[in-house]
Amino acid sequence: MISAPVSKALNKQIELEGSSSQFYLAMASWAETQGLNGIAAFLYQHADEERMHMLKLIRFVNERGGHGVIPMLKQPPVTFKSVKSVFEEILKHEIRVTAEINGLVDATLKVKDYTTHNFLQWYVSEQIEEEALARQIVDKLKLIGDDKGGLYFFDRDLEQLSKTEASGEGNEA
Ligand code: FEO
Repeated sequence: MISAPVSKALNKQIELEGSSSQFYLAMASWAETQGLNGIAAFLYQHADEERMHMLKLIRFVNERGGHGVIPMLKQPPVTFKSVKSVFEEILKHEIRVTAEINGLVDATLKVKDYTTHNFLQWYVSEQIEEEALARQIVDKLKLIGDDKGGLYFFDRDLEQLSKTEASGEGNEA
């Protein structure tokens, strides 16, 4: 049985994963309206992954005798300054998610909830991948700078990456 404080903390994480999904969905929709279909495909897929992160938490809380609460979410931004700023925001966001996950891991150890601690290890690994990927993309975009041709190929690369991930060759999520 999950304790009330751990359940509350996991519900906060449910909300964060849900809002991450909405955030990436807003970025995907914006990219699509800019004709950046590869970037949009990648971001739509990322939004799905975040929803899966939320769902995994809801199911875990319920399995352990708690109640996963479906959160009300704020509207994410509608437009974005540039592709580079989108990915910089993603990196910043993922660093924040990692900090939250680490805080949760710490909280479970303090109350000796080893089951939840074990469950959270999946998120710890996932965050390493998510941060690394966001960092790689931001670095690539720095190289591209204002080169329109470079952005065209970058868009194609991300389309390819989302296909690879969808076929299961990428990370587990
Ligand atoms: Fe679910 Fe991107 O953290």
